[in-house]
Amino acid sequence: MATRSAHINVMIRAADKAARKLRRDYGEVANLQVSRKGPADFVSAADLKAEQVLREELGRARPGYALLMEESGASANRDTAERCWIVDPLDGTTNFLHGLPHFAISIALEERGELIAGVVFDPIKNEMYYAEKGQGAYLNDRRIRVSSREHLADALVATGIPFLGHGDGPAFMAELDAVSPKVAGVRRWGTASLDLAYVAAGRFDGFWERGLAAWDVAAGIVLVREAGGHVSEIGGKAIRLDSPSILATNEVLHRSLNRLLPKPASKSA
Ligand code: IPD
Repeated sequence: MATRSAHINVMIRAADKAARKLRRDYGEVANLQVSRKGPADFVSAADLKAEQVLREELGRARPGYALLMEESGASANRDTAERCWIVDPLDGTTNFLHGLPHFAISIALEERGELIAGVVFDPIKNEMYYAEKGQGAYLNDRRIRVSSREHLADALVATGIPFLGHGDGPAFMAELDAVSPKVAGVRRWGTASLDLAYVAAGRFDGFWERGLAAWDVAAGIVLVREAGGHVSEIGGKAIRLDSPSILATNEVLHRSLNRLLPKPASKSA
């Protein structure tokens, strides 16, 4: 059993509270009032309510910290506060709206520009992933580690597929074409924070995607690192919150998966 730090306790409490609302709303998904944020990019009433709960809980526990949230953006003290919560109240919104039981709440803590803690909670499967710099990664208080698979031929990898108004379809098809014949399987489950949590837990051996936002990946990056994995941009550059792509794998497969992925010649690399 892990000893949780005060920060992790704050994050878990907030995620638990927001999850209660999300679970209820998921049960009534058909009745949810949704508004369109852009083509195929829905914001559900549940998303907004969960964000409100998280803002209140995290703000009450640590009043001086900044917030960067998917729906409401950055708080006024984002550039001046030493610490910032980076929050996706409902990652996997499309799954949620279609009644697919695979979505998550993602909360990361950044300190002076460095990601130091992450919590990803799947409220349907009741799986609470958390990690803190130097303290390892955990799933429901049990230590997790990335997989030890060494060969692409045995690897199950996850990715994200461009969709209406998002991403570069032909570039993605070239990636899929390069990767899929070499691996045991490719999955697209539609919740990037859980894709990263699954790499941390050794369920997926790798994950790549382009065009994700900071709140989709911040907590998952901490999980993968603390589970012994490797996270970079596609191409190998150090990952940043505004990176155009992410590649996360167990410690052995990074080089080989990276080598397979075509590197676009353009600025979108
Ligand atoms: C989405 C999910 C999905 C990814 C999309 C994201 P959201 O986040 O993480 O896996 O492929 O690009 O936008 O919008 O459900 O929070």
